[in-house]
Amino acid sequence: MEINLNFTIFIPSKIMVGNNAIENIGEEATKFGASKVLIITDVGIVKSGIMDKVRRILENRNLKVGVFEGVEPEPHTRVVYDCIKEMEGENYDLLVGIGGGSSIDVTKAVSVLVTNKGKLDDYYGFDKVKKPGLKKIQIPTTAGTGSEVTNVSVLIDENEEKVVIYSPYLYADLAIVDPLLTLSLPPKVTAHTGMDALCHAIESYTSVDANLFTDILSLKAISLIGKNLRKAVFQGDKNIDSRYNMSIASLFAGMSFSIAGCNAVHALALALGGKYHIPHGLSNALMLTSVIEFNLPGNYEKFKNIAKALGEKVEGLSSIESAHKAVKAVRIISEDIGIPQKLRDINVKKEDIEELSKIAIKNNRLLIHNPRKISLEDIMEIYQNAW
Ligand SMILES: [Fe+2]
Repeated sequence: MEINLNFTIFIPSKIMVGNNAIENIGEEATKFGASKVLIITDVGIVKSGIMDKVRRILENRNLKVGVFEGVEPEPHTRVVYDCIKEMEGENYDLLVGIGGGSSIDVTKAVSVLVTNKGKLDDYYGFDKVKKPGLKKIQIPTTAGTGSEVTNVSVLIDENEEKVVIYSPYLYADLAIVDPLLTLSLPPKVTAHTGMDALCHAIESYTSVDANLFTDILSLKAISLIGKNLRKAVFQGDKNIDSRYNMSIASLFAGMSFSIAGCNAVHALALALGGKYHIPHGLSNALMLTSVIEFNLPGNYEKFKNIAKALGEKVEGLSSIESAHKAVKAVRIISEDIGIPQKLRDINVKKEDIEELSKIAIKNNRLLIHNPRKISLEDIMEIYQNAW
């Protein structure tokens, strides 16, 4: 496959990275000219003390601070409307999203709905948002979604269907990536979100829309995850280096997939997660090796590089033999961190495969990036192999 020579890079205008980077939020908020800030988060982040810490730093700069803590995992559109209702008459001029992908995605949607008015339905799809949103600072507390650097907000509507807004106005005005905020993440969440980051990295690296810029980011992310995810899962509360490296990996993979796109892993995983309500990272992890096996002939050279980045020895092997080692390397990471390996392990019904496949094939926005052309029959076979 030839590399794309023409490409466009969209990333947030400012990204601050580092242990204790969060200490900068007061100063940064004043640079935006803010006087009244709304923190958008969930109860878990409030209980962890992270929200209070951020609030204190902002208040030390004489900023008024309100808190909306109603974000739920896999958030419904109702959460966005609830938040906007709480904002009425309060004159907030800056939003701060703190949490996993859910809080960050809600913050994106609130930001543009406040200024563009109307209903969320008006903005589903690509580039429907007409003008910039309220300024927003995004602070991830997991290492996986990369949502702090993407232009996407994923919500669930009142019919329980996933709805997606894509707009350059969803990019953060500032993303603060402070790995210390991920120290207290439980092992299971670390494992699931880490596998999500690995999927972002592998899918964007092998995307037909990958370019020189995204290749650097995604391949580095793959190697960092290979070296650090196990440590982050099993020693995460004290191994600061592994948390730092996973945060960087998530950030790089997020920037990469925001430009090059994810592909069949996410397409099949989203169908699965939608029907069975399983965590996003877990559903991706469950599909990853079967999709890689299918995709190998689409780009042996890149899968060979993935195997190498994950520490596999490929000297003396052909590209095809080396590429197959990527499947093995990914499977071992996933097994090591306790991810179930088969769909039947989490009680997915075999008879649902046809329905899941029909949902997944509709996800053209992702499948167009796949390195190998994929049909409905292919998707059924992949689910079958994963089952
Ligand atoms: Fe994802």
